[in-house]
Amino acid sequence: MPKIVVIPGDGIGKEITDAAVRVLQAADKKFALNLEYEYHDAGGTAYDKFGTPLPEETVAACKASDGVLFGAVGGDKWDNVEPALRPEKAILGLRKQLGLYANLRPVKIADALVEYSPLKPELARGVDLVIVRELVGGIYFGERCESEQHNGVERAWDLENYSVPEVERIVRLACETAKLRRGKLTSVDKANVLATSRLWRRTAAEAAKAYPEVEMKNLYVDNCAMQLAINPAQFDVIVTGNLFGDILSDEAAVVGGSIGMLPSASIGTSTSLYEPIHGSAPDIAGQGIANPMGTILSAAMLLRYSLHEEEAALAIEQAVDKALAEGYRTPDLWKEGFKKANTAEITHVIVERI
Ligand SMILES: NC(=O)c1ccc[n+]([C@@H]2O[C@H](COP(=O)([O-])OP(=O)(O)OC[C@H]3O[C@@H](n4cnc5c(N)ncnc54)[C@H](O)[C@@H]3O)[C@@H](O)[C@H]2O)c1
Repeated sequence: MPKIVVIPGDGIGKEITDAAVRVLQAADKKFALNLEYEYHDAGGTAYDKFGTPLPEETVAACKASDGVLFGAVGGDKWDNVEPALRPEKAILGLRKQLGLYANLRPVKIADALVEYSPLKPELARGVDLVIVRELVGGIYFGERCESEQHNGVERAWDLENYSVPEVERIVRLACETAKLRRGKLTSVDKANVLATSRLWRRTAAEAAKAYPEVEMKNLYVDNCAMQLAINPAQFDVIVTGNLFGDILSDEAAVVGGSIGMLPSASIGTSTSLYEPIHGSAPDIAGQGIANPMGTILSAAMLLRYSLHEEEAALAIEQAVDKALAEGYRTPDLWKEGFKKANTAEITHVIVERI
């Protein structure tokens, strides 16, 4: 029986993970998935109970699971906690301890939500892409110097490095992702300037040869940033390093137009973690009005990537699309003429459509 560890976390975390589990249970009923759930603490809630944002027991449970569904952590209540024990440290700790080496961020603009994108409707329509970001290498993890004297002036530096195996691993994952989609991969680098990018480019080309069904092209990061704003519908899967991926995935999320809708996956060598891209939204916590769709779509990703239950994942995604097409909107998306639905109501609508 596949075991899912659920970590609600803080703020709206409990509301949105409860909603996602209800949807998973509906998918389970239809597709006989036999899912089992185990609940664990992380973030501020864990700090209050155990004095640490990431108890050992939570890490062990995640490691022993088939997938982790994560809500969100953080809130004003823990603003004065010492930096090493702040709720957000739970995410960094899990990344490290579970070896989460890749972040997958899909940005799909449902036809019903085209008007929420800051782009013109004709540019936003049909956007359906995934950014695959390398998460444990590159400049964020290189050596750095905060301050030194050099030729009589103060300077600082950060070192970027990528090894062939690191690039091979992420490009293979991106090819696998593209294979499940439209088979188009764009590898993004800055090979006209950076040595790491030149190694990235030639390694990516070699690794992609094992996937003849995937068509790969290269793009410089500055051009990619521009293309995401002027023609995002051209992309299927984008693969890139840690720094470029950080920036491009936030740009792509804004193009999506609605923070409550976007899911993500952090892929590890054994267990992977799935969470919405938004935070714990303390301003609306406990009111039952949070948009659970980013978490529900994260649960669909868990079914797809960790359990290989493509049909069940699609059923959830289509149910979300149907609810939107029929005019249901959570308060963050509601406008005159639409049907207002709180967290429980939209969850019920989605469950009914699976
Ligand atoms: N992965 C994570 O757990 C994560 C990510 C980002 C921020 N945080 C933490 O979350 C806390 C709040 O951060 P923030 O306010 O900058 O970002 P946030 O994403 O929590 O909220 C930003 C705004 O978007 C709204 N919002 C977010 N998700 C929503 C949803 N599902 N439905 C409806 N409205 C939604 C909020 O009400 C708020 O107005 C902070 O402690 C921060 O550190 C955690």
